[in-house]
Amino acid sequence: DPPPPPGPPSFAGLKLVNDADHPWKPLREGDIRGPCPGLNTLASHGYLPRNGVASPSDIVKAVQEGFNMENKFAISVTYLGHLLDGNLVTDLLSIGGKTPNTGPAPPPPAHAGGLNVHGAFEGDAGITRADAFFGDNHSFNQTLFDKFVDFSNRYGGGYYNLSVAAELRYSRIQDSIATNPDFSFKNVRYITAYGETVFPVTLFVDGRVTTDRKLSMEDAASFFRDMKFPPDFHRAAQPSSNEGIPQVLAPHPWLPGGNADGKVNNYVADPDSADFQHLCRMYTNVVENVVGLYPNPTGILKRNLIKNLHYWYTGVNVTFGGCTELFPYGQL
Ligand code: HEM
Repeated sequence: DPPPPPGPPSFAGLKLVNDADHPWKPLREGDIRGPCPGLNTLASHGYLPRNGVASPSDIVKAVQEGFNMENKFAISVTYLGHLLDGNLVTDLLSIGGKTPNTGPAPPPPAHAGGLNVHGAFEGDAGITRADAFFGDNHSFNQTLFDKFVDFSNRYGGGYYNLSVAAELRYSRIQDSIATNPDFSFKNVRYITAYGETVFPVTLFVDGRVTTDRKLSMEDAASFFRDMKFPPDFHRAAQPSSNEGIPQVLAPHPWLPGGNADGKVNNYVADPDSADFQHLCRMYTNVVENVVGLYPNPTGILKRNLIKNLHYWYTGVNVTFGGCTELFPYGQL
């Protein structure tokens, strides 16, 4: 059975995490990495299995231990990824591409394809990853990192902070509008796109820095490109997650939507999408997407869907501030 998600760690304070027990190691033949620099780094330091295949429990424990990600937030993000991209029979998720190491996938339209799958969790206008339309949605992209550095120079005095996050987030949206006819920026993607612009401030900055949190370009390259903690890195001093999104949205308020009719420069807002005033719409939208992947599950698959949907809900209900639980497959 898939076990219930882990609770918070017994110690959730400041700690050296780039320690002797968790040495960075280069990739071996076959090791998988993907679009998330946080998970990539945890795998390369052995907080996650170094092959890049993990259970949701492994992931919750690793993001708590290595970055001090807050427990309910960690559950919300992890089970979102697992429900959309994981193998619900074997309880394993690839943090990158599809692999036989997660076991045989359930019948299509389910794919158990890992976090690289476009349009599930992964989406457009990432900060250091290109849109799927351009061919590679998961690898570190040097051109985009150059833009990250340029914006950090222009708006952050050479560091990445929330002011830089606000400008870069907005600019990456404009890039996709102008160049990606398939640009989609709603529901899961709208919410996560803002989250991933603040994680470098809340989670990649050393926890010993308590005021004026900002990330150096050296440390940014270490995480985004090299999947490596900076030397002597201490995790956040208290459980943290996506604090700062209001400061990112304020200079450039922006509505969820996408380029309509497969045409660039044709952004149309979607009034039915989830946004930060309607977070439970993201919960509902994902449950619908899960039902789309698994229209008629039976046996262990059905039981595990029921369990994982509920585990996810226990996180979402807290992080989103109260949503009505849905039971598309009934209850156990
Ligand atoms: C991006 C998954 C935890 C930092 C992503 C993306 C996925 C993902 C699928 C790609 C989104 C996209 O651009 O299309 C997850 C899952 C987590 C997790 C399942 C489980 C808890 C973390 C943690 C951190 C983090 C703990 C930081 C310590 C980031 C950042 C990006 C990102 C900064 C943006 C990458 C870029 O576009 O340059 N994550 N993540 N994530 N994640 Fe995670």
